[in-house]
Amino acid sequence: MSEGSSLNVKLSAALASRDERWIRRRLPDPNTSSSGSPLIDFNSNDYLSLSSSQILRNRFLKKLSEAPDVLGSGGSRLLVNGRAHNALEARLSQFFRAEAALLFNSGFDANVGFFSCVPQPGDVVVYDEYIHASVHDGIRASRARDAHYAFSHNSMPSFRRLLNRIREERRGLEAGENSIFVAVESLYSMDGTFAPLEEIVSVLEEIFPRGNGYLVVDEAHATGIYGPEGRGRVAQLGLEGKVLARLHTFGKALAATGAVILTNTLIRDYLLNYARSLIYTTSLSFANIIAADCSFDLLTDGMAQTLANDLLDLSAYFTQYIRPHLVRIPPKLLSLPEHLRDDISLNHDPPSPIIPIMTSHPRPLSAYLLALGMNARPITWPTVPKGKDRVRVCLHAGNTREDVEKLAHGAIRWAQETLAEEERKDRRIEMNGKVFLESKL
Ligand SMILES: Cc1ncc(COP(=O)(O)O)c(C=O)c1O
Repeated sequence: MSEGSSLNVKLSAALASRDERWIRRRLPDPNTSSSGSPLIDFNSNDYLSLSSSQILRNRFLKKLSEAPDVLGSGGSRLLVNGRAHNALEARLSQFFRAEAALLFNSGFDANVGFFSCVPQPGDVVVYDEYIHASVHDGIRASRARDAHYAFSHNSMPSFRRLLNRIREERRGLEAGENSIFVAVESLYSMDGTFAPLEEIVSVLEEIFPRGNGYLVVDEAHATGIYGPEGRGRVAQLGLEGKVLARLHTFGKALAATGAVILTNTLIRDYLLNYARSLIYTTSLSFANIIAADCSFDLLTDGMAQTLANDLLDLSAYFTQYIRPHLVRIPPKLLSLPEHLRDDISLNHDPPSPIIPIMTSHPRPLSAYLLALGMNARPITWPTVPKGKDRVRVCLHAGNTREDVEKLAHGAIRWAQETLAEEERKDRRIEMNGKVFLESKL
């Protein structure tokens, strides 16, 4: 591609524009990424620290050495022998108390696969405004691409208003001739907030009493952490029978890769026939299947539950620890999000490993923490809405109380130094009857 070509010019201009707006994405410096670095990890989604578990590693290597197949799967699920894949699906449908389970290569592929094909002509998809990009991509490729609506994040009044409006506008829905799908995440990845699943189910059933309202729950960030044996929030709340499909991903707390959709046999069959992100791709390698299987061993033997309890205790400790230090700092510069501002014991939701530290200066704060040996990433628009920039703190079972105290002190010290600097810049100096800013002299 020559430098002067139109494509070169357009792509370069787009990247330069992102540079100017401070939103250009780049790969992290390999020396500052979580694995193998001396930095304290407040960044990865390895919530249970299983990626560095010697127990999981040993189990994986043993199973690998005994397995008949370990390397590539050789092709699409529809073409090659999927004995190991079938066995894992059978295990997972039993473990999660679901009628059927279907593996995908990733959570992204699973959401795209489901939402691109299950909604039929005349159907509607409704989603929380913070829903993951993969659901948007699925909807865009679906037959409901012109019939999708967002409700305000976790707002039941907004959800109710939207459903009522849609029912009034669409006779087919009221008559039960069409379906409405509701997509939520049980634990939101950027905010650490929990979907009010019980209320969502009850409003959906109330407004669509014919049973044509279907809830789809993405449990990517709750898998392994919540519910009995880490089976997720839907299981924790006993809502398995009220949810059409659940997505569990293996790449976060389970330290593997891949994902599973839990649903009924009809939808499983339909996905096998129509989900392009499943049909036209090489299925997970045998080694991937073995890795996921080993992680589920740790869920069933109780080890993960112990780690999850430690993790949630640490999360509650961190918010309690940092809260009093924040009172003298302007919230715009540094604050906890609204749902964590009060004492956690007053909040009926459990603690979450995802704690956004809201700040109008996410990059300088992240850089400051990095210099102190802590990796917590800045998150800005377009990943989060404008004005909601933050440093996203992810806690891990392997973090210690000393780690999170260091994090709290680092963030507070940064805020104090930033404030002092801003005050210095704003200091006005009077000379010869004129007022000057000290910083301009
Ligand atoms: C809520 C949510 N759903 C789905 C995905 C995609 O999962 P995976 O990383 O397995 O593709 C992610 C990960 O970024 C996520 O945060």
